[in-house]
Amino acid sequence: MSGAAPRTWQLLPLLEETSRFFAARNLENPRLQAELLLADVLALRRLDLYLRFDQLLSPAQVDAYREHVRQRLRGVPLQYITGKAGFRNLNLSVDPAVLIPRPETEILVEVALEYLQGVEAPQVLDVGCGSGAIALALAQECPAARVKATDLSSAALARARANARELELADRVGFCCGDLLDPFRPAGQFHLIASNPPYVRRGDLEGLEAQVRDHEPHLALDGGEDGLDFYRRLAGLAGPFLAPEGLLVLEVGAGQADEVAALLEQSGCFAPASIRPDLAGIPRVVSAARRAEA
Ligand SMILES: C[S@@+](CC[C@H](N)C(=O)[O-])C[C@H]1O[C@@H](n2cnc3c(N)ncnc32)[C@H](O)[C@@H]1O
Repeated sequence: MSGAAPRTWQLLPLLEETSRFFAARNLENPRLQAELLLADVLALRRLDLYLRFDQLLSPAQVDAYREHVRQRLRGVPLQYITGKAGFRNLNLSVDPAVLIPRPETEILVEVALEYLQGVEAPQVLDVGCGSGAIALALAQECPAARVKATDLSSAALARARANARELELADRVGFCCGDLLDPFRPAGQFHLIASNPPYVRRGDLEGLEAQVRDHEPHLALDGGEDGLDFYRRLAGLAGPFLAPEGLLVLEVGAGQADEVAALLEQSGCFAPASIRPDLAGIPRVVSAARRAEA
């Protein structure tokens, strides 16, 4: 006797069942997550699902979707499952070697672009580029810019390079592996240096949300004992790599902005810093110009 035929699924009931399942497990935005995972399996845009609610799915599609759902229930971030993350106008590919770009970082790009408007043929550096989010957004939105990007992780750089090729920006964005500004010693001359460095206090790493702690690279998160290691180092190092009055622009963690602004000022290289809040009102981006005489 043959076994029972597998249940066939139409798109809408499968989405509804999955979002109920996600809701019962307290996942945020359960319907949205169910849709994004299914859109990925079917290689559709999410909104296109709405035109196909009665489409019948093949057993292979249902199996692939169930595998996505299982991974999500194990806590794998949605972007690592689909391999994609949106950042400003870009669709980046991501994997567990790179931090998933965050909306807060879009504010850093905004501050940088405002400054670059006034600079002819700007030379730009992104330190700790991860997926390439900052470097590639700046190259895309400021077509006159030539951009360099560095990271200590060669796996992250491989992903960033692939993104640059995919977005057809590789001719204006170059990548180097190394510790902070080391690849440019003895000195570069950038109009703008941007960085979203690791800034989580070491003692807080264990208490991070599980999907961050267990899946995102610790190299991208660990900011040392007080979370400020990278700011201290950049405040001491970045001045000579900037053109006179060039701008250093840094993303900071909640509660770090004043300390980072003070570090920059104490270095003697920078004019007083400006601080820009994110959309939640948290001071998020600290920027300071190199003193002309420094
Ligand atoms: C918070 S992530 C930011 C990634 C990306 N810029 C973004 O905003 O999505 C910090 C990045 O710094 C890199 N990193 C950590 N230590 C570094 C070092 N000493 N020198 C250069 N990059 C470093 C990590 O590998 C990681 O990609």
